[in-house]
Amino acid sequence: YVIGVDLGTSAVKILLVSEQGEVVQTVSKPYPLFHEKTGYSEQDPEDWVTGTIAGLQELLQNFSGAPEDIEGISFSGQMHGLVLLDGSNEVLRPAILWNDTRTTAECRKIVETVGQERLLQITKNPALEGFTLPKILWVKEYEPEIFNKAQSFVLPKDYLRYRMTGELHMEYSDAAGTLLLDISKQQWSTEICELLDLDPTICPPLVDSHAEVGTLTAEFAEQSGLAQTTRVFAGGADNACGAIGSGILKDGKTLCSIGTSGVVLSYEASDNKDFGGKVHYFNHAAPDAFYTMGVTLSAGYSLTWFKDVFAAGESFEELLAEVGTVPAGSNGLLFTPYLVGERTPHADAAIRASFIGMDSSHQRKDFVRAVLEGITFSLNESIAIFRDSGKHIDTIVSIGGGAQNEDWLQMQADIFNATIIRLKSEQGPGMGAAMLAAFGCGWFHSLQACADVFLEEGKQFTPNPVNVEQYEKLFGVYTEVYGQTKELN
Ligand code: XUL
Repeated sequence: YVIGVDLGTSAVKILLVSEQGEVVQTVSKPYPLFHEKTGYSEQDPEDWVTGTIAGLQELLQNFSGAPEDIEGISFSGQMHGLVLLDGSNEVLRPAILWNDTRTTAECRKIVETVGQERLLQITKNPALEGFTLPKILWVKEYEPEIFNKAQSFVLPKDYLRYRMTGELHMEYSDAAGTLLLDISKQQWSTEICELLDLDPTICPPLVDSHAEVGTLTAEFAEQSGLAQTTRVFAGGADNACGAIGSGILKDGKTLCSIGTSGVVLSYEASDNKDFGGKVHYFNHAAPDAFYTMGVTLSAGYSLTWFKDVFAAGESFEELLAEVGTVPAGSNGLLFTPYLVGERTPHADAAIRASFIGMDSSHQRKDFVRAVLEGITFSLNESIAIFRDSGKHIDTIVSIGGGAQNEDWLQMQADIFNATIIRLKSEQGPGMGAAMLAAFGCGWFHSLQACADVFLEEGKQFTPNPVNVEQYEKLFGVYTEVYGQTKELN
């Protein structure tokens, strides 16, 4: 067996997977998010550790085998979150997360100091509030007494792994989202560190995602119930692991993953394309590969927001029950999902959402469909960037909350104008983490060979030409709304 630990934003989800790729058990333990001020989003790293220990204990209690039967463990983690450590690797302050937007001024400083062109050459990405480097600069500016004690920084799942093994590492797929990694050379950029007056020694040693980084400490083995011999593999960023767990492992493979945020992610065999920073360009957790990705910040979150404000007490199933009876285009109602700003393609933390075209005859179901369409239009802006670069996208694997509802899956086919494929048993990033452990343990000669055994495609949704045409027109209107509403903020 292997274990995949998916350290998410709202919970840690742990999967126990057999050698045949069968998911034997899943456990999830939630933890709180803290929003001390508008735009702030923090977590206590200790909550990740206690949640994981509690989850592992529960998993092992219900496991019929012996702890020694679990050969390896690996990780998927929420990206970009800053965990600052002192010289004894003690946590210096709460982790500042990927969805924290306090760092607009620091992003400006990075562009002014490093230069936009040079930044893109080295990191292949623009300076965005969510990334890690601006968070480091924020602490340096506003909490100098804390910053002066900092000896290293790690990302969320790296901290969890450190607590399990006593070893500090970072792997390329997560390091790619710090804005400190030279993506092509797979090395920390001492140039960026020096320009911003950061000591490069705060950057931890880099390893591959499938690299074995140690075994468990006696203390963690005792607390969790795992055998001390369990082999620990570095793991990857949640989006990279979601891609592995969906078989996005060769050219032509594209993923749509709708959770709180939504991403469209496409496999890249090389780092030599130029998207001018319009989409994220990160190292994959598969060896020597890359991926490009566009992010919609409020994807599933837009639906949760709508449910909480207008349908509190109802389930998502109830809310979505009538969506299929509303025609494509939601009877003239259009939604843009910029509730907390937007990443791709606008990189604008200040823009806000809108409903446009409201009619006195509209019912709640029209609004619900408009929300789903708006989220999907936003993701389609990323697909349009990929297609403009010459990329051919005719099939997309869809995972996450957005793949739970068949009406939404058909909408994705019609708006993306591509065949949408659902997986038979979808486990998201946790499965990618388990696959990294399986590959690391030597069960397979490649991640693709592992995917061939572990993953199976399910139902397909093909585009309806009439809806495709209508959505193409509406998408044109959708793309205009951003510029027209920008001045409201
Ligand atoms: C990616 C991003 C989010 C987080 C969610 O750049 O910020 O998808 O990884 O955990």
